[in-house]
Amino acid sequence: MSAQLLDGKLISEQIITEVRAKVDARVAAGRRAPALAVVLVGDDPASAVYVRNKKTACERAGFRSLSFEYPASLTEAELLALVRKLNDDPEVDGILVQLPLPKHINADRVIETINPHKDVDGFHPYNFGRLALKMPLLRPCTPHGVMVMLEKTGVDLVGKDAVVIGASNIVGRPAALELLMARATVTVCHSKTRDLAGKVAAADIVVAGVGIPNFVKGDWIKPGAIVIDVGINRLENGKLCGDVEFEVAKQRASWITPVPGGVGPMTIALLMQNTLDANIHLYP
Ligand code: GUN
Repeated sequence: MSAQLLDGKLISEQIITEVRAKVDARVAAGRRAPALAVVLVGDDPASAVYVRNKKTACERAGFRSLSFEYPASLTEAELLALVRKLNDDPEVDGILVQLPLPKHINADRVIETINPHKDVDGFHPYNFGRLALKMPLLRPCTPHGVMVMLEKTGVDLVGKDAVVIGASNIVGRPAALELLMARATVTVCHSKTRDLAGKVAAADIVVAGVGIPNFVKGDWIKPGAIVIDVGINRLENGKLCGDVEFEVAKQRASWITPVPGGVGPMTIALLMQNTLDANIHLYP
């Protein structure tokens, strides 16, 4: 058996097209276009690529994007002052501070300073708490993208055994809350988990977000399982690869996401969706 591919590029384009149509209708009715402020501190090459892709998506969605780029020497006080200024700016709907931040800046403090209604990453404790309470508002983009992809399979998630590998605030934890909200039975695995292979082998759904190339062996995958690979790792030869051994896993899974072209573009599409939602919520 060879798995069907979940084409994140295609699904993300459909989402952005839908967002664009709503934006065009609002602008035609005399409203301003949604605006996303993107903040980049330092010169992490991967972050620079992600930020560029986010700005390009804003253009496609019909948004205004405001760019704030600073050297790694920016102080925490300066960054907090910028966030407060953007919070108070009535022409800004979404604030995205690209992570990771330089070590001298406390990322939690920065996230908590963002107005939760402009927190289009869904990282603020207010939005995270709402997701935990099954009353989500702005949902973290990557796990939300994972759920949209799972929905595209047409498979009923209720009661399915889902294994999430990685317990990060950006991917693993919110993905577990999303899957729980969809009424799957969720196991969250992390670096101290025993018998990871056994847990993966029992899973109907595997979501991997650890950031280690080919960490999840293809022959661990249960035949017929759905495999969602959130990892985007750059190999020494310059190629991108996921956290799952794709070629072997593909022979066992029923559905699988490619890397690149899987979850990556979905994150950006759901960011556009969140920015429009924030704009509508702030200016109904
Ligand atoms: N770094 C890696 N993923 C993300 C993301 O989704 N949002 C932000 N702000 N930073 C990230």
